[in-house]
Amino acid sequence: LHFEPYPFEKLSELLKDITPNSAYPAVTLTIGEPQFETPDFIQETLKQNVHLLNKYPKSSGEAYVNEAQRSFMKKRFGVELKSSELISVFGTKEVLFSFPQYWLHDKQNPVMAYPNPFYQIYEGAAIASRARVVHLDLTVENGFKPDINLPSLKEADLIILNFPNNPTTSVLSLEELGEWVKFALKYDVVLLNDECYSELYVGQKPASLLEASLHVGNEKFKNVLVLNSISKRSSAPGLRSGFIAGDEKILSNGMERYGTCGTYTRSIREKSPFST
Ligand SMILES: Cc1ncc(COP(=O)(O)O)c(C=O)c1O
Repeated sequence: LHFEPYPFEKLSELLKDITPNSAYPAVTLTIGEPQFETPDFIQETLKQNVHLLNKYPKSSGEAYVNEAQRSFMKKRFGVELKSSELISVFGTKEVLFSFPQYWLHDKQNPVMAYPNPFYQIYEGAAIASRARVVHLDLTVENGFKPDINLPSLKEADLIILNFPNNPTTSVLSLEELGEWVKFALKYDVVLLNDECYSELYVGQKPASLLEASLHVGNEKFKNVLVLNSISKRSSAPGLRSGFIAGDEKILSNGMERYGTCGTYTRSIREKSPFST
């Protein structure tokens, strides 16, 4: 397996002999790390529960985390989920890497589509899955929105979307997301939206793909999944807690067990940041 070096490693190498002009303040365009303090209640709860650090979380997931995450989906997007429609995970990075390997494992010539530019883990997952990649170019001309009419898209076994998008900040409306859900149903392809930036917005709240799924009448979320995480919304990437939610058939059909081979779900005991 050959993985590309992380872009920030490449960037550091390129910048290493350059002395910045001290007349200007530095603008750090580095990893998507929150620049705000982790909220007090998270820090406090963590301190009160350090005695639990010698315990593994349940590999099947803690019920209170699942509940808090479902209540977030209900409160924020009006999407009511059954506990079996959500799996709590470590970070979403880990799922973005492992889910494509799980889903594409039995395909003869797997094809994965995702936006370009992209979060590098999508590419790592494609390499590990031996998948051919279809890039959904985000350009000034298309308003940084993926072209749903791209002919090669119909060959995809898995499409990853990432809206609100990193790095372009572009957002797809409820209606636009609904068109993607219809596409996933029509061509029977799994659609996964990486929604870890859903809570970072100015003005109108971005919609979730699961909300769009309900909007177009796909009430069982067939072929549709979303990921979310506390890393950005709660300024807590060090805690590693997120979820994958949507199509129960995909989630219950072995994914849960595959995920627990590599990841444990974690959160602060009794109180997940998703509960606020
Ligand atoms: C687009 C995107 N998806 C997922 C992640 C990973 O987030 P997590 O901390 O949940 O692994 C990041 C983190 O930078 C990201 O930018």
